[in-house]
Amino acid sequence: MTADPFALFDAWYAEAKAAEINDPDAMALATASPDGSPSVRMVLLKGHGPNGFIFYTNADSRKGSELSANPVAALLIHWKSLRRQVRIEGPVQEVSGAEADIYFASRSRDSQIGAWASDQSRPLDRRETFEARYEEVRGRFEGSDVPRPPRWTGFKVNPERIEFWSDRPHRLHERRLFTVGQQGWTEGLLYP
Ligand SMILES: Cc1cc2nc3c(=O)[nH]c(=O)nc-3n(C[C@H](O)[C@H](O)[C@H](O)COP(=O)(O)O)c2cc1C
Repeated sequence: MTADPFALFDAWYAEAKAAEINDPDAMALATASPDGSPSVRMVLLKGHGPNGFIFYTNADSRKGSELSANPVAALLIHWKSLRRQVRIEGPVQEVSGAEADIYFASRSRDSQIGAWASDQSRPLDRRETFEARYEEVRGRFEGSDVPRPPRWTGFKVNPERIEFWSDRPHRLHERRLFTVGQQGWTEGLLYP
């Protein structure tokens, strides 16, 4: 029997959008350096489905550098109000330039300017330096559209393993694990 983790994800996500007080699209993104040292930070889910779970960032950031050297990732979404978590793991690819352009164009102008002004994950001597860079970029693009910075892009985690965890009384939690193989997706259970 083939299973459909994406329909289940859609159903849980819809419930989370109704229940969470903010950021139902927030997820922890874990990456690792080639020697296996992990790092984790929050990002926002900007697209999802069988072709991948997408977030946008600066490719020269720490996460971007780790993904270019070791293109695998794990995502964790915790919907606190629903007492649920979803874990997604798989190889990572950059989205196409055209896809990144479309998403960048949909962001607010201030966020677009911020993307140019922020040398993400690099040391910053003082806050004022960042503010001055922001003002410089604002002036530079005055009266025109803000193009996507060349190193600002999206990454897609192609899921190979998706686990849905839900809270149950007495810590008898439910864990549904979906894995993909030659025959498509199959579903099993894990002890909590
Ligand atoms: C709720 C939340 C959502 C975030 N979303 C993003 C995001 O979508 N993209 C991004 O680059 N940083 C996002 N950040 C900031 C990152 O957590 C992180 O500080 C930044 O990307 C630098 O991470 P790095 O140095 O590990 O690359 C978010 C932070 C929070 C708390």
